[in-house]
Amino acid sequence: MIKQKLVIGNWKNYLDADQTIELATKISNQQIPDNIRLMISPCNLYLSEVNKALNESSVEVISQNITSYESSSDTGGVTATDLKNIGISRTIVGHSEVRKRNKDFKSEDLLKQIIPAKFNFILCFESIDQIPFNILNNDFEITLAYEPVWAIGTGETASIEHINEIHSLVKSTLSEFNLDIPLLYGGSVNPNNSKEILSQKLVDGVLVGGASTKHEDLFKIINSIR
Ligand code: PGA
Repeated sequence: MIKQKLVIGNWKNYLDADQTIELATKISNQQIPDNIRLMISPCNLYLSEVNKALNESSVEVISQNITSYESSSDTGGVTATDLKNIGISRTIVGHSEVRKRNKDFKSEDLLKQIIPAKFNFILCFESIDQIPFNILNNDFEITLAYEPVWAIGTGETASIEHINEIHSLVKSTLSEFNLDIPLLYGGSVNPNNSKEILSQKLVDGVLVGGASTKHEDLFKIINSIR
């Protein structure tokens, strides 16, 4: 079987409703190469509609965040249970923009709720101590994404040496815990650097913000390792 690299488009809150649906519809009409698995994370308000637009395609629609697993008294929160009800089965967790808003954020608190329920997630981290290796497992789809905060939205991508150094450290710790978990890089990935980043053996994919909101750039990234 062909080894796929994961490309996740994190649209954050960059696009309005019309732009979101227009881009999702364009993506739904386009061929995704066999060596790429594409996930799109639109603003939570448009998850349902984007999911419908991409229903017939191989593209998975995922949430940008959750605040708890079960529905609860949590004004403004998004629960995994809510997401499952609209056909979404994966979320990003612990993005640095979420950590910045919520200074008390500890991934363990949230992961202790979603791991027993086997709700797929991508845990973002800036430093290795933000990964609770001891509570992770191989029972469902957990993904990690190394996102140095200084590289997010700045146009300043980490060097290949830096990415490989961190990825090698995280991967060796994963193997000490017998964990088989893919590791992505995120931070100013664009069509000019995606080929080199995606070609690295230690990089299982990329988490792309700004560039993923532009149709042409997104497909240049997707097609960069054809
Ligand atoms: P960026 O964002 O590609 O715009 O740097 C990455 C991210 O926040 O996941």
